[in-house]
Amino acid sequence: MSRFYLTTPIYYVNAQPHLGHAYTTIVGDALARWHRLLGEEVHFLTGTDEHGLKIQQAADAAGIPPQQFADNIAPLFVKAWERLDITNTDFIRTTEQRHRIGVQKLLQACFDAGDIELDVYRGMYCVACEAYYTADDLDGDNCPIHKRPVEHVEEENYFFRLSRFGDRLLDWYANHPDAIVPEHRLNEVTSFIKQGLHDFSVSRKTLTWGIPLPFDESHVAYVWFDALANYITAIGYGANDTTFNKWWPVNRHLIGKDIIRFHCIYWPAMLMSAGIEPPSGYAVGGWLLVGGEKMSKTSGNVVNPLDLIDEIGLDGFRYYVLADTAYGNDGDFTYEGLIARYNSDLANNLGNLAARVATVVGKKCDGRGTAPSPSSALAPISSQTVADAVEQWQRVQPSRALEATWQLIRATNAHLEQHEPWKAEPGAGVDAVMGDALEALRIITILVYPAMPDTAREIWSRIGMTGDIADVRVPDALQWGGYTAGATVTKGDPLFPRRTV
Ligand code: ME8
Ligand code: MG
Repeated sequence: MSRFYLTTPIYYVNAQPHLGHAYTTIVGDALARWHRLLGEEVHFLTGTDEHGLKIQQAADAAGIPPQQFADNIAPLFVKAWERLDITNTDFIRTTEQRHRIGVQKLLQACFDAGDIELDVYRGMYCVACEAYYTADDLDGDNCPIHKRPVEHVEEENYFFRLSRFGDRLLDWYANHPDAIVPEHRLNEVTSFIKQGLHDFSVSRKTLTWGIPLPFDESHVAYVWFDALANYITAIGYGANDTTFNKWWPVNRHLIGKDIIRFHCIYWPAMLMSAGIEPPSGYAVGGWLLVGGEKMSKTSGNVVNPLDLIDEIGLDGFRYYVLADTAYGNDGDFTYEGLIARYNSDLANNLGNLAARVATVVGKKCDGRGTAPSPSSALAPISSQTVADAVEQWQRVQPSRALEATWQLIRATNAHLEQHEPWKAEPGAGVDAVMGDALEALRIITILVYPAMPDTAREIWSRIGMTGDIADVRVPDALQWGGYTAGATVTKGDPLFPRRTV
């Protein structure tokens, strides 16, 4: 069986889980579910980033030790992902022992390769980014991202000799042109490498909240070196070669555009230094803004995803974040947009289709599903939808995969409106129309499953399909003609009652 290893970023524990974290994690979950439908063995990792100055300062402000601070926040992420029905197969915290062992092993490997050396760092540091900046990077005296003053740092640090890796990285990307999606992000990465790479500091001497360097315990590892390593420490790097070799290299790192340099430049270079293969793939997402602005405590526009689930239901929320923004672009969350999309796509389209099919089959076909026709007008539309959806999931474009799926939903509703089976007398004519509609709905249900697992399970059972929909295998199950005639069709409550703002 082929395997698929997928990761989200590990989130800083200085903030509670918010809409932006939920967005990235839901994209990961939908992708994980899609790959399971493809019959792949999926390992889906997420977790929390708990070391570094940012967390130390947040803990200081709260008046508690950093470990206790992290222990308070990390479970909020675990619980939020449970509530969002995220099917991660592991959750790593960087304060775990398995992580410490692996990070030290990686540091030692890079040190032994001669790529980590002691030097003096003089320059600027933004605690919010946990990143070093040169004067050229700054916006006046401020961090270019957080627009607030950077700290001047001068201390003895160990450096990773990133400057040695430019050509190797360029060669690697030239040989792996599909490694980064969307494609324009690859150009951003390669042009950055071509400008010339600078060595970066991998240790701090004035901080204690971190993992000590194995070759100099008076320093702790730089938080990004520590954090990036989670992707290998979680699968047993330095401790279990069997699991490590099974899952590495990762198939896709899902990351936000804010952390592309760390992931697409620093990280593969660190791995090359240690003699490990670079990640096979990345999918870079944009920002989910709120009312056109970045979420921040100071703007007071931080959206808690759990509140939205209470309002609109889990699947309504999952569908909205997946469908509303093309992955890679920035999206804009508004409450009105959430309600509008829920009403149009879910209440009026999918929900209406499921209700109509069940009602007509109940009234005109004795509640028994009828057979689809191989020559149905819906069959070619379905096969086009399937081809498009398969391709878009492959490209990590859930919104486009769902858009393709909605083409079939709209076509099936139009098919019903054209034939008006609710007005016809029971008989072969109605049976034929409904068999085609049931078959289209079966295919639609499989295609919406990665986005809306509960809804898919519910429709699956209402149209009388047996077994767990999670066990179907695509693309075979998406062939026209798989509906079992004679199955019991039940109506049930409206799946998506209309909402008003
Ligand atoms: O950067 N819109 O953690 P972080 C979309 N610990 N995505 C968003 C978002 C938003 N408004 N806000 C956050 C870190 N994200 C490091 C990562 S990985 C080895 C270490 C998502 O808590 C997005 O994917 O700041 C972003 O890259 C990630 O959360 C960073 O979360
Ligand atoms: Mg951040």
